[in-house]
Amino acid sequence: MTTTLITGGTVVSATGRAPADVLVDGETIRAVLEPGSTILGTDVAASVDRVIDATGKYVIPGGIDAHTHMELPFGGTAAIDTFETGTRAAAWGGTTSIVDFAVQTYGQRIEDGLAAWHEKASGNCAIDYAFHQIVGDVNEASLASLAKLPDEGITSFKLFMAYPGVFYSDDAQILKAMQVSRDTGMLTMMHAENGPAIDVLAAQLVEQGKTDPFYHGVARAWEMEEEATHRAIMLAKLTGAPLYVVHVSAKQAVEQLAWARDKGQNVYGETCPQYLYLSLEDQLGAKSDEWGAFEGAKWVCSTPLRSRAEGHQDSMWQALRTNDLQMVSTDHCPFCMKDQKELGRGDFRKIPNGIGSIEHRMDLMYQGVVTGEITLERWVELTSTTPARMFGLYGQKGVIQPGADADLVVYDPNGHTSIGVGLDSSGAPTGRSHHMNMDHSAWEGYEIDGHVDTVLSRGKVIVDGDEYLGTKGDGRFLKRGLSQYLI
Ligand code: URP
Ligand code: ZN
Ligand code: ZN
Repeated sequence: MTTTLITGGTVVSATGRAPADVLVDGETIRAVLEPGSTILGTDVAASVDRVIDATGKYVIPGGIDAHTHMELPFGGTAAIDTFETGTRAAAWGGTTSIVDFAVQTYGQRIEDGLAAWHEKASGNCAIDYAFHQIVGDVNEASLASLAKLPDEGITSFKLFMAYPGVFYSDDAQILKAMQVSRDTGMLTMMHAENGPAIDVLAAQLVEQGKTDPFYHGVARAWEMEEEATHRAIMLAKLTGAPLYVVHVSAKQAVEQLAWARDKGQNVYGETCPQYLYLSLEDQLGAKSDEWGAFEGAKWVCSTPLRSRAEGHQDSMWQALRTNDLQMVSTDHCPFCMKDQKELGRGDFRKIPNGIGSIEHRMDLMYQGVVTGEITLERWVELTSTTPARMFGLYGQKGVIQPGADADLVVYDPNGHTSIGVGLDSSGAPTGRSHHMNMDHSAWEGYEIDGHVDTVLSRGKVIVDGDEYLGTKGDGRFLKRGLSQYLI
């Protein structure tokens, strides 16, 4: 077994930072040592197989992205990253575990949907992976199947108050599924937008000739997110289910979560980089030579981007500081402009929903440290430690301590990362690049004052500077325990 010493760096955790050396033995962390330690009179550095010099750099637990959608079928197409391409891009960006969503579609058995997801992921991932379960058809049979999932290491499920006719659950279905959540300890994850009302507004906009991507965000008004978030909270209160609201973008939805938490209710929320940095105004202004106003399609996601003038982005950062929101995930759901997003030219309702960010989450959140929005420790907490605790992985993941998996990132605060467009629409590489399987980037032009230098996944160096050393199939399925946030 290979032994590795990461030496000279500053180890950062959710609770503090200190100069320390990290000793890795095989796949796990053996010890966190005083810098320059000796064992039995011998320099540790002289006795290991490999030394990684982290002088002047941060050593952090590998990122955990708890909201990804590899190959998600959506709008007549499917998210373009496979488990192979998506986990490779994740590794490049310092993310060493993902929790993806297995899908039960309408009329399908949970068991079959889950088996299909195992099939897609198994043998293809570069990093470790786990699943939540999407329940797209709540009925007596699926509820019975759902209750058995914790035995298989799946301890959370997602319901949709949006997307009627696709993944949508009505209040009666939500209530029944939440009763399973209460009885089993599974976390209910909620897509909180009032889908039926949104669909009416969207149809009216299209009838008025308002078909550009920008109107996606107009139809999905913040009132629809606030209302659904409140309804989800009340249904969770009634049933006693623990609730986790995904991709929160409206400041009014955060207010609902804060209100419920202040009353002692067991509710949580995540936001995503797009709701911290991007805005509806950006989408309105997007007009490239190639795509015209349709360029805004690259930012069509649900919940939608919100108005900067209304202050949603500032509220998201504030909620991350005050712990009204606990985590940042990407909701990575990438579609190319060509042949995918362009399905919605002339009708924004047909644009597949989703943004690709899996490679950039650690960097984009680190930029929040640079600009003073969050502390260094909060960066680690939001991107690794809380995801591990929230989703039953803590101890193995999300922390640098003896016995934990050696998922580690050496991050250079003096480095620089230019986020580029990847491939152009003819498939040719552009100057600055990313590694997601997309013909554009939602983050084109973003400059980060930091850099992911080295990434270890269970002790194996998978990214070393500009070199990718990972292997498809190295990533293992993670059986998760129950959330540490249950009360
Ligand atoms: O736009 C999004 N979020 N696409 C993925 C599906 C979902 O609702 O998470
Ligand atoms: Zn969703
Ligand atoms: Zn999602």
